[in-house]
Amino acid sequence: MKLCMIGTGYVGLVSGACFADLGNDVVCVDKDFNKINRLKNGVIPIYEPGLEELVKKNYNNKRLKFSTDLNKSVAKSNIIFICVGTPTKKNSNFADLSQIYKVTKEIRGSINKFKIIITKSTVPVTTGDQIEKIISKKKPKKLFSVVSNPEFLREGEAIRDFIYPDRIVIGTNNSRSNKILKNLYSPLISKGAKYINTSRRASELIKYASNSFLATKITFINEIANLCEKIGVDIEDISIGIGLDKRIGGRFLRAGPAYGGSCFPKDTKAIVTTGDKFKTNLSLIKSVIKSNQKRTSLMLDKVNEILKGRIKNKNISFLGVTFKANTDDMRDSSSLLMIPSLAKKGAKVNYYDPTGEKKIFKKIKNVTYCENINTAIRFSDLVIIHTEWNDFKSINFNSVIKKKNFIVYDLRNIYSHSKMKKDKINYFGVGR
Ligand SMILES: NC(=O)c1ccc[n+]([C@@H]2O[C@H](COP(=O)([O-])OP(=O)(O)OC[C@H]3O[C@@H](n4cnc5c(N)ncnc54)[C@H](O)[C@@H]3O)[C@@H](O)[C@H]2O)c1
Repeated sequence: MKLCMIGTGYVGLVSGACFADLGNDVVCVDKDFNKINRLKNGVIPIYEPGLEELVKKNYNNKRLKFSTDLNKSVAKSNIIFICVGTPTKKNSNFADLSQIYKVTKEIRGSINKFKIIITKSTVPVTTGDQIEKIISKKKPKKLFSVVSNPEFLREGEAIRDFIYPDRIVIGTNNSRSNKILKNLYSPLISKGAKYINTSRRASELIKYASNSFLATKITFINEIANLCEKIGVDIEDISIGIGLDKRIGGRFLRAGPAYGGSCFPKDTKAIVTTGDKFKTNLSLIKSVIKSNQKRTSLMLDKVNEILKGRIKNKNISFLGVTFKANTDDMRDSSSLLMIPSLAKKGAKVNYYDPTGEKKIFKKIKNVTYCENINTAIRFSDLVIIHTEWNDFKSINFNSVIKKKNFIVYDLRNIYSHSKMKKDKINYFGVGR
């Protein structure tokens, strides 16, 4: 099939490369000329394990193309996936749908034969209705069908998640579109993915409800971790003890910093505003958002407590700054608040991240990027393990760190308390 991905970001590029690998002709379009040029030259704009190989392989065999010409790309394709961003609107909790509607207006002129227009971007309930309305002002309804097909991939495991999804959700009551899309996804269905055909609105809501539920699970275990710290119990035992219950499940049940990333913070806010729009108080999700927003200051209070209120002139090293491992995505990472706050209080902050230096920290006084773990932590008073990259899982702190009485604050509970005690390392975890 001939597919067009509009928006060549985390979702558009990964799903475009995977669809090409499944034998489809795919063109990935972006308005960012620089990004498209770099992709044509084999430079992958994001860090995602396995993506570079997949893109190069399919670009070389000509199943995957890159373009900035939206109209030509749409005209040549049968299925159009909208994969542009839906961030939170400035100074509000609403999803900013300007990119979605801009694309909608741009593509409608190129609808020259029957096309399926899919929202793969996460969009609030009724966005599909609006897209249909906008296109039908210029094109007859028989020429197009607007379908919701939310994406559930996780950054860092995006290719695996795309190829082996738990489910594929298709929101449409148009049987022709449903048949075509079932066929498109048949290689994944035959590997065990469940295919769900539902209404467009239900599909849109499934995505928000899923992300809100996962955010709730993380926030739940983070709050239990707060309690564990007070009563001297290890949260890791609690996570295992409750996660083994099949009704609960162990995933997304690890205590740590506030959840971040490009999805949970914005999607929890957006579903709450959808609730308000339909006069439904989503009080549970509201309190999840509040609890998560407070979490970074809790972590900062803990740093203050660990350093006995003496942050000024302390050497603090961050290991990892992205919101999670195996991605270079910094969106809503808790490091964005923690690092500037500690630097403002007079700490000298070093950081190392396997995905390299971050532009956002360049402007901040007293914050330095280090090329490797050893340089980052050599003269540390406090090492903060912020992101659980494998690179940080077996550091011999005693042989690297030159400072006496250094402290390790492990926000991901990577290390065991007993091992650190045996090595005489002053160690703090989360919820232990
Ligand atoms: N990142 C994830 O892990 C993830 C997972 C599931 C769903 N989603 C959802 O998918 C959507 C996209 O997320 P992302 O992380 O891939 O975003 P992104 O910011 O990485 O990529 C969006 C791309 O769209 C391009 N774009 C914007 N307007 C355009 C236009 N008019 N024409 C062509 N290109 C245009 C931008 O230049 C950018 O490259 C969001 O709604 C997000 O919530 C993201």
